[in-house]
Amino acid sequence: MPAITATAPGKCILIGEHAAVYARPAIAAPVMDVAVRVIISARPTGQSDSIQVEAPAIQLSADLSELAEDHPITVIIQLVKAHLHADRMPAMHIRITSTIPPAAGLGSSAAVAVALIRALTRFLGHPLDDVTICQLAYEAEKRQHGSPSGVDNTVITYARPIYFVKGQPFEPLSVAESIHLLIADSGQPSSTAAVVADVRRGWEKTPANYEAIFDAIGSLARQARSCIEHGPIKSMGALLTQNHTLLQQLGVSNSKLDRLVQVALDTGALGAKVSGGGRGGNLIVLVEDPTNPRIATALLAAGACRIISSTLHPTG
Ligand code: MEV
Repeated sequence: MPAITATAPGKCILIGEHAAVYARPAIAAPVMDVAVRVIISARPTGQSDSIQVEAPAIQLSADLSELAEDHPITVIIQLVKAHLHADRMPAMHIRITSTIPPAAGLGSSAAVAVALIRALTRFLGHPLDDVTICQLAYEAEKRQHGSPSGVDNTVITYARPIYFVKGQPFEPLSVAESIHLLIADSGQPSSTAAVVADVRRGWEKTPANYEAIFDAIGSLARQARSCIEHGPIKSMGALLTQNHTLLQQLGVSNSKLDRLVQVALDTGALGAKVSGGGRGGNLIVLVEDPTNPRIATALLAAGACRIISSTLHPTG
């Protein structure tokens, strides 16, 4: 049997993280410049249920039976087994490689879930449609992150810009003009689950304050949608920066991220904000001219450890 390969891209949240968990709209886009790749090959001489897993990025090389029950890879494989009512699995070797930095707000865990579900179900001869892949990846995300909105697994499964409201069917977005983004890594790893849990504690203490911030973020997402679908994209810059201010009020930024946002704005960015869970991870910066190195150079000088230049092209 030939080896089966599946990939899934990274993602960035253009506007609306955290408020998305409270059913306000968010806009997310795939980051095709980074990806998870899963390759599954048969081990014809192996015993059934003997599954070798190799993931060099997290120094993992083990038999599945050696992993904890709540290990993300075990959880994903168990979800697939249950969905397919498969009692036993053929012996196989699963190799997972990734260029998506983990714990950086770029959707690494959802991308592993999507690529592994896709590869495994194809390998077992039961390829699934995107709706089902997205549902299973959401279940995996829930086991890892507590109360995710579902935006990460959705944008990564469908690999297109989306307008997302928790609990509702997502809406694919058409893109009127090129959207040039710099995605700048602060170099500070951060757990989305922990930050989401902190925001929940704040919301429980002063719900009216948090609800007002979520409403304001939702309103920015609606305005940004219009910029993306009808232009001008330049006008989205101020919306991103306003979103950053609201994320500061939620307590999900920090001094390094704030400094990098300011450096981006001072060197000519149209807008900049934290993207994803925050308290570290990545910023997104909207730029007019991706060939001008000025903003990226300034961000690197100010402590960003890596910059991805990513463009969302008009959908025509
Ligand atoms: C994470 O990419 C986005 C958050 O809003 C969490 C979620 O929506 O599940 C922080």
